[in-house]
Amino acid sequence: METWDAIRARRNVRDFEDRPIPGADLDRILEAARRSPSSRNGQPWDFVLVADRERLQALSGVWRGAGHVARSAATIAIVAPVPDDERSAASLHYDLGQATIQTMLAAADLGIGSGHAAVRDQDLAREVLGLPGDRFLAWLIALGYPADRPLRPIEHPDRRPFDEVVHRETW
Ligand SMILES: Cc1cc2nc3c(=O)[nH]c(=O)nc-3n(C[C@H](O)[C@H](O)[C@H](O)COP(=O)(O)O)c2cc1C
Repeated sequence: METWDAIRARRNVRDFEDRPIPGADLDRILEAARRSPSSRNGQPWDFVLVADRERLQALSGVWRGAGHVARSAATIAIVAPVPDDERSAASLHYDLGQATIQTMLAAADLGIGSGHAAVRDQDLAREVLGLPGDRFLAWLIALGYPADRPLRPIEHPDRRPFDEVVHRETW
């Protein structure tokens, strides 16, 4: 897919076909994540790829909005160091946001759907993923082939109007 098409086609996918993603495609998506920019090139992330069905099911319990993780072909768990203060937390989440969208666009480029999930139950996340004590599970990205319809550029996305959000020169 062209970059512009991938940007327009990406949407949150929460229902997935029961079909595995080829390993080479998963590696490419993870490589896109690894190449993401970050503040001072700190790269404050690790990515845990989960494809085992039982583990996906257990992982989906970390937040009530994470049910689609159980149905995914694979999910990337974005793991980060526990931040020391508010400023490093803000910087960390900016970096993780960049890694997230870069990952999702790489997936869309391959026709693979993706869906965010937040995380609430850190104890469960720690138990399911075996995380070290100084790390936490920041976000989940569920992956799989969309069960509803293939990814295609969306003509009219559910977004605020262009002229409302874009300001030129001054507010
Ligand atoms: C920071 C963040 C957290 C999100 N958490 C969840 C979540 O826990 N569960 C979920 O189903 N979707 C989650 N989403 C997806 C958003 O609801 C979705 O991106 C938004 O409604 C726009 O839809 P689109 O991605 O299809 O364009 C999250 C998105 C972001 C950016």
